[in-house]
Amino acid sequence: MRGIRFGFVPTTILALVDASIGGKNGIDVGVYKNMVGIIRQPSFLLHDLSLLQSLPEKEWQNGFAEIIKHACIKDAAMFKQLEQHSLADYMKDKKLVAELVQRNALIKTKVVQKDEFEKGDRRLLNYGHTIGHAIETQYGLMHGEAVAIGMVYASQISEQLLGFDAKERVKALIEKYQLPTTISFDAKKVFEVLAMDKKRVQKEMNFVLLNKIGKAIVHPIPLQRLEKIINKL
Ligand SMILES: NC(=O)c1ccc[n+]([C@@H]2O[C@H](COP(=O)([O-])OP(=O)(O)OC[C@H]3O[C@@H](n4cnc5c(N)ncnc54)[C@H](O)[C@@H]3O)[C@@H](O)[C@H]2O)c1
Ligand SMILES: [Zn+2]
Repeated sequence: MRGIRFGFVPTTILALVDASIGGKNGIDVGVYKNMVGIIRQPSFLLHDLSLLQSLPEKEWQNGFAEIIKHACIKDAAMFKQLEQHSLADYMKDKKLVAELVQRNALIKTKVVQKDEFEKGDRRLLNYGHTIGHAIETQYGLMHGEAVAIGMVYASQISEQLLGFDAKERVKALIEKYQLPTTISFDAKKVFEVLAMDKKRVQKEMNFVLLNKIGKAIVHPIPLQRLEKIINKL
């Protein structure tokens, strides 16, 4: 038919701060992430943070990967706040987590409202996701774990190509929130999957890199060059 109206009641940190916002929801097909899905805005979002009482710690960690992503690309002050607190602080302090969820939901909402069709700023939300998606399904990682590793590699590439000087801070923050920072992977296989990524435009990949904490840019990298970079990671 012509579809039905729907709303979301996100029950994970990841869904509260990210997946429920933006009107793009998909399922994975084989090793390819989000290949089949819907492009439609929900009619409403309902946040009931009391649901988080039963959320396993592993899922909290998973969701914090997207929060760290938002901090890296858009919010240096939040990056500092995250450095000063710990996951345990957020898990036990309802006010603290409510503020953090709202701050992150607003970051994503603002980006999506300005750029629903992913021509500009919305692309920055893919920070950590190019390599992240390529390893997630192949190595059976949780989404947040894959993105965490992807962000560490992307910050390394940012250092190589843009002279980004805070790679260690990104890595340390990801470790602080008990997420993985590295994985030994088959570079050839990962590159093959990566080349299927939606961010590829003909022979270039639009890679999201960091100029500094809180400031990301889209940087086209020729596939040949990217293959060499991936081989050396
Ligand atoms: N569309 C987007 O913009 C977007 C953005 C980020 C991530 N994603 C996708 O979202 C997916 C992950 O979603 P998710 O992290 O919400 O996970 P999920 O829905 O898979 O839930 C994770 C686990 O936690 C359990 N659970 C959920 N809420 C609970 C609660 N309150 N108490 C106890 N258990 C609870 C679930 O039953 C499940 O076992 C990934 O596939 C990722 O790629 C999409
Ligand atoms: Zn994500």
